[in-house]
Amino acid sequence: MNPLEGIRSIRELPIENKKLFVRVDFNVPLDNGKITDDSRIREALPTLKHALERGARLIVASHLGRPKPGKDNRKLSMVPCGLRLAELLATEVIVPEDCVGDGPKKVILDLRPGQVCLLENLRFHPEEEKNDEAFSKQLAEHAEVYVDDAFGCVHRAHASVHGMAKLFHDRGCGFLLEKEIAALGKLVTAPDRPYVAVLGGAKVSDKIAVVDSLLLQVTTLIIGGAMANTFLAAQGHDMKKSLVETDKLPLARSILEKALAKGIHVALPLDLVVAAALDAAEGTIVEVNAVPDGQMALDIGPKSVADFAKRFADAKTVFWNGPMGLFEKAPFSAGTFGVARALAASKAFTVVGGGDSAAAVNIAGEGIAKAMGHISTGGGASLELIEGKKLPGIEVLRA
Ligand code: 3PG
Repeated sequence: MNPLEGIRSIRELPIENKKLFVRVDFNVPLDNGKITDDSRIREALPTLKHALERGARLIVASHLGRPKPGKDNRKLSMVPCGLRLAELLATEVIVPEDCVGDGPKKVILDLRPGQVCLLENLRFHPEEEKNDEAFSKQLAEHAEVYVDDAFGCVHRAHASVHGMAKLFHDRGCGFLLEKEIAALGKLVTAPDRPYVAVLGGAKVSDKIAVVDSLLLQVTTLIIGGAMANTFLAAQGHDMKKSLVETDKLPLARSILEKALAKGIHVALPLDLVVAAALDAAEGTIVEVNAVPDGQMALDIGPKSVADFAKRFADAKTVFWNGPMGLFEKAPFSAGTFGVARALAASKAFTVVGGGDSAAAVNIAGEGIAKAMGHISTGGGASLELIEGKKLPGIEVLRA
């Protein structure tokens, strides 16, 4: 099935002079009220510009962070996002004091052509995450057409992503969501082979479902990062102080056996960068069977990077999710950045899952991010899509 089947694109929706609700994912990182990475706002621009050019009256909405009931959540206001959006769109963006009620209603009523209303944080109302019917209705009353462009949120059955969308006859996806569904959907439905998947990150337990579904598709599965420690331990290596999920050793063994039975090659690190502590100023490169006492694996070594890179050379598709080590710290970043460079040099269709891997690609060096086939903006959402799950925010858009 075409992953976009039954979903209308914003191109096909009647938005001229209509009140258009666009759900975006402006869940951006903040430091003292300052946006430290505005990629998610930039990624929404093509849809928002298209809507303005076609004369829609634009109502934009997002959540930001995870506000706690009863706490002072003012630092999670959408105002900084509104200011940044106004700069990027070079237009006036009005942020009412709430996302429902008389305040936003009045702002929307008074919207002049070219102006944008960015509703206040949807999660200031707990009803958002409860997919509450009455709240969904209140949000839906703001507009005549609904567009979802918040790929990072489509795995959440929340009011602004699911409950309200159902209430619109004219509903569909924005350009970002369309691009994400097409790229990630292809990996699930019809990946070109050889297909290599690279998984990293801390925990095997976070990736079980995705490993299971990747074993139905891939030619080679590469495992790096701290989760590789558990696999190496399952093969009998003494990982010393390294993070190993001992309760997941049987699971790691069964994954290795399953892969073997299917003729899928599993590539694990050949060497590691080890140190005595996470804040060590430097690491030492050792073979996987020679981790010294009192040391822990914090990155993959250069032999592993070269081995993994060799496997990308003749691949037609590569999917990467999860860093190869503690890449935020310079002594342990070479493995992750090396894999990013090798991926950028590969001729395969390369897809990078959101979250840490996307962040790593963005800082791995000049031209690396540009060389990727697709970098997802969704962490949890991209993994769940790869798992082959039906996601509420996507399914609700189908006719
Ligand atoms: C994300 O950052 O992955 C999305 O915005 C979803 O946020 P959430 O995990 O708080 O639902």
